[in-house]
Amino acid sequence: MATPTKPILYNGFKIKDDLSIKGRVERIFFTEVYSLSNGKFLYLFTNIRPEEVVDRGNTYDLVTINHEGKKYLGVVIDVHSHEKMTEIIDELTVLRGLDCVAGMKALKAMFLSDVIEPLRNPEKYKKFKLSIPNGVLLYGPPGCGKTFIVKKLAEELGYNFVEMAPSSVSTSFVHGAVGNIGKVFEMAKLQAPSIVFIDEIEGLVPKRDGTNPFDSTKKEEINEFLIQLNNAGANKVLVVGATNRPDMIDSAILRSGRMDKKIFVPPPDFDARRDMFKICLAGRPYDKEIDFEKLATLTENYVGSDIELIVTESARLAVARDKNSIDEGMLIESINKFKPSITLKEIEHYQQFRDLER
Ligand SMILES: Nc1ncnc2c1ncn2[C@@H]1O[C@H](COP(=O)(O)OP(=O)(O)O)[C@@H](O)[C@H]1O
Ligand SMILES: [Mg+2]
Repeated sequence: MATPTKPILYNGFKIKDDLSIKGRVERIFFTEVYSLSNGKFLYLFTNIRPEEVVDRGNTYDLVTINHEGKKYLGVVIDVHSHEKMTEIIDELTVLRGLDCVAGMKALKAMFLSDVIEPLRNPEKYKKFKLSIPNGVLLYGPPGCGKTFIVKKLAEELGYNFVEMAPSSVSTSFVHGAVGNIGKVFEMAKLQAPSIVFIDEIEGLVPKRDGTNPFDSTKKEEINEFLIQLNNAGANKVLVVGATNRPDMIDSAILRSGRMDKKIFVPPPDFDARRDMFKICLAGRPYDKEIDFEKLATLTENYVGSDIELIVTESARLAVARDKNSIDEGMLIESINKFKPSITLKEIEHYQQFRDLER
């Protein structure tokens, strides 16, 4: 079948000093396939911007092609096949691991230097008797990505991931609970390196104020947890706890120093909101002219989960209106539809816990 559109690149066009276009093979949706002077092929993508892609493993021979005032992303490959083409598009456009997380620069840097690096180069760190932190506590207002970043860290590392929901540890079978904590850690050690994630950790180690009839069993549980926390890092087990309610956690946990790092996860700032829109839109068709800075300006005081909701709502609008892509108008309409889910007052309430951080 004849290819109806005119090729973007003409025959003889130089894509590198010693490499030029021989002819167009085909065009499929937004990809043009060319044969090259060295017998290889070029995929030229018309709807993926060079600055949008991440080639994390440096797997591909990527080229940026400037032509008639436009910048195109291209990939040079040995053999052309449609499966390969889809695979490359997926690889380059689907975000994975910590790349999916907007903002949180300091937290990401800490994960990288104190966790990912030591787990990847154990010998280097062992020589200096360094191990990963025993415990990391993330706290802050809801919807700001605490649960999200831990899951993405696990995805990034590809390590064994054990999620311990307090409801599964602390049931009314009070004495079973202590054993359960031990079992979870035993399993994590056996399959190390692993991450033990305790979401809503205030349920596991709540404040003891003497009024709770379960206080004594809770004490046992908390002690068991502290024991397990000791040396977790040396056993290549990273324990991460997360909470929206730092005021409800047992103060022994906060003071004991057994949680090596306590990190406040704040609402997203301007840059983080801008990136969050980009991340949430990635993988859905959207208008390339969207002004992301404007969206970030319009969403002051909104948190990550709000932005996700706004983007999902906009996608619904696009479908309902039978549009090909999500545009700025739909996003603004959705922003106006939803108020920020947490109030300024609530955010201020968290400020008092900031000095836990170390
Ligand atoms: N920093 C972020 N980057 C990207 N998405 C985010 C971020 N923060 C929140 N989100 C989105 O909001 C959703 C809810 O966040 P979540 O991790 O459950 O918040 P928390 O655990 O702090 O209450 C996530 O699933 C994710 O889609
Ligand atoms: Mg959470």
